[in-house]
Amino acid sequence: MNRRLDSASNIWITGASSGIGEAVTRELVQQGHRLVITGRRRDALDQLCTHAPDRMKAAPADTTDREALQAISAELEAFGNLDMAILNAGTCEYLEIAEYDSSIIDHNVTTNVVGTARCLDIALPALRRTARQGRPATLVIVSSSAWWFPFGRAEGYGASKAALTYFAHALRADLAAEGIDVVVVSPGFVKTPLTDRNDFPMPFLVSADDAAQRIVSGLRNGKREIAFPKRFTWTLRLLGALPQVIIDRMAASMSRQSRKEQESSE
Ligand SMILES: NC(=O)c1ccc[n+]([C@@H]2O[C@H](COP(=O)([O-])OP(=O)(O)OC[C@H]3O[C@@H](n4cnc5c(N)ncnc54)[C@H](OP(=O)(O)O)[C@@H]3O)[C@@H](O)[C@H]2O)c1
Repeated sequence: MNRRLDSASNIWITGASSGIGEAVTRELVQQGHRLVITGRRRDALDQLCTHAPDRMKAAPADTTDREALQAISAELEAFGNLDMAILNAGTCEYLEIAEYDSSIIDHNVTTNVVGTARCLDIALPALRRTARQGRPATLVIVSSSAWWFPFGRAEGYGASKAALTYFAHALRADLAAEGIDVVVVSPGFVKTPLTDRNDFPMPFLVSADDAAQRIVSGLRNGKREIAFPKRFTWTLRLLGALPQVIIDRMAASMSRQSRKEQESSE
């Protein structure tokens, strides 16, 4: 029986133009796989394709835009049987509670949840065809471990990743009978252009290359849950197991502290 990524596989990855997606793309290309890469910035995708032009195809699209996704589905079809879809495109916008603005929630949810769901319009039929041939078919959803604890300012981001993880787990249940594996990736802090904007300390920060190696090795090893770095994710798991009243006190105190630090740096 074939295992995931055992032989040269056809993979679609979104959010490939920077950060974790770019590093995962490089790692997979280096291991001999063939990739269709998506993001909104064509230049960045074209540049990445120069690593292996015969095994890579740029398919730029806004993943929140149904028509743009339909427009690239023919390119995905033409690439061959789809073995794996890695839905990684995402954003993180923080809320300033003193200036509450629900558009922050909209942006996080639209990109992280709705965009990912729309990608399935084109990925799922392709993965189904692969599974029907008895080959491993894998859907990978890049979520986050941030929602395991109620961090201040992360109302929109945390809610979007909690919803995305639920979406992935429910899909896992529904797709099991068809032989399609659903993998959830839950990183802690990874150094990327997204986190370079953060103005707070990021414990156990790992590089994008390190994150990519952990993700690809987890996929090769057949994992369905890939969470890292362990020091961060275990701390969050332990905190999450505390009584809610203690979690609330800790979260409120962290929020007050970070507001004080923000005010003193202004
Ligand atoms: N960095 C972390 O600490 C961390 C931790 C946990 C989870 N994550 C998750 O990991 C994923 C990648 O994040 P990152 O840190 O690598 O961020 P990043 O460097 O900002 O990369 C985000 C990627 O998503 C693409 N993207 C964003 N909106 C898109 C849209 N509407 N349509 C198509 N592509 C879109 C961007 O491409 P274009 O700009 O070209 O469109 C870019 O390639 C995200 O889902 C993020 O939530 C990150």
